Amino acid sequence: KQVFQGRSFLAEKDFTKEELVYLIEFSEHLKLLKKKGIPHHYLEGKNIALLFEKASTRTRAAFTTAAIDLGAHPEYLGKDDIQLGKKESVEDTARVLGSMFDGIEFRGFSQRSVEQLAEFSGVPVWNGLTDEWHPTQMIADFLTVKENFGRLEGITLAYVGDGRNNVANSLLVTAAILGVNIRIVSPKSLFPEQHLIDMAQEYAEEAGSEVMITDEVAKGVKNADVLYTDVWVSMGEEDKFAERIELLTPYQINMEMVRATGKEDVIILHCLPAFHDVETDYGKQVEKDHHITAMEITDEAFRSPHARQFVQAENRMHSIKAIMAATLGNLFIPKV
Ligand code: CP
Ligand code: NVA
Repeated sequence: KQVFQGRSFLAEKDFTKEELVYLIEFSEHLKLLKKKGIPHHYLEGKNIALLFEKASTRTRAAFTTAAIDLGAHPEYLGKDDIQLGKKESVEDTARVLGSMFDGIEFRGFSQRSVEQLAEFSGVPVWNGLTDEWHPTQMIADFLTVKENFGRLEGITLAYVGDGRNNVANSLLVTAAILGVNIRIVSPKSLFPEQHLIDMAQEYAEEAGSEVMITDEVAKGVKNADVLYTDVWVSMGEEDKFAERIELLTPYQINMEMVRATGKEDVIILHCLPAFHDVETDYGKQVEKDHHITAMEITDEAFRSPHARQFVQAENRMHSIKAIMAATLGNLFIPKV
């Protein structure tokens, strides 16, 4: 029997395959309730703190709307609004927030911060992204894969780009736990850390899936059901633009790469935000600085029939709802 109540959601490796599958299926259920307009107030009367040291569109919006749909009250506490990181420690912040809020979301730099929040607050803490992991993203991502293919086992996901960031780490480990074949396709200097590869390989052995780490694009994407990419420069490493463009240009998702999978029904995922050659100030800035208009994905691929990134983004809300309701809610599953 799975026990979620009172637990924090800090990293995927803290959960079993069955528990992760449960969260994906619970997300599907909550999505259906939302679409049918059936109330699902699992968190009636609860207060939720949303702590953000880094910027966010999806995670903030998803936690806010999910909390409200669940009957809770969300409160946004940005880095410029509170004392944390300036004159107050994580421990003291955790003790105070834990005495007033029933659950805490944290997005920031250090995994240690989110762990300390969980240790000292006494309430469930949900990791909304650190430098190391992006676990709430994973429930949305694999929900999107499952919705698309009707299953997870035996699916092959090729992540192309920066193999050392939070999203790559999370995909590597979560896919392996879930029995999804996972490939990290990136230059050797951006291969995942060895201990994460070892961890993934252990999980994959248990689940019967395969782990491939390669710098060869053709080999890495062949027969992939899912192509996934993320920004080449993550939050906090903005000084690395020039070096990453140099290293990662061969790993851009474009229509040639889509065809190289050999799969007509291949889907494209991107956790977003994305750099692509859309006419925005942001796009123009990249063009001006680096003489290119597209980075990790071309606009053609981004807008092709293969692309699923906007369903994936919507799924952040349904899956964050499932994570909050499972760990903090009074669980009973209403009949649809
Ligand atoms: N995918 C994701 O976490 O997006 P935000 O940074 O906008 O929250
Ligand atoms: N790797 C990206 C993910 C953003 C959702 C970053 O950390 O900036």
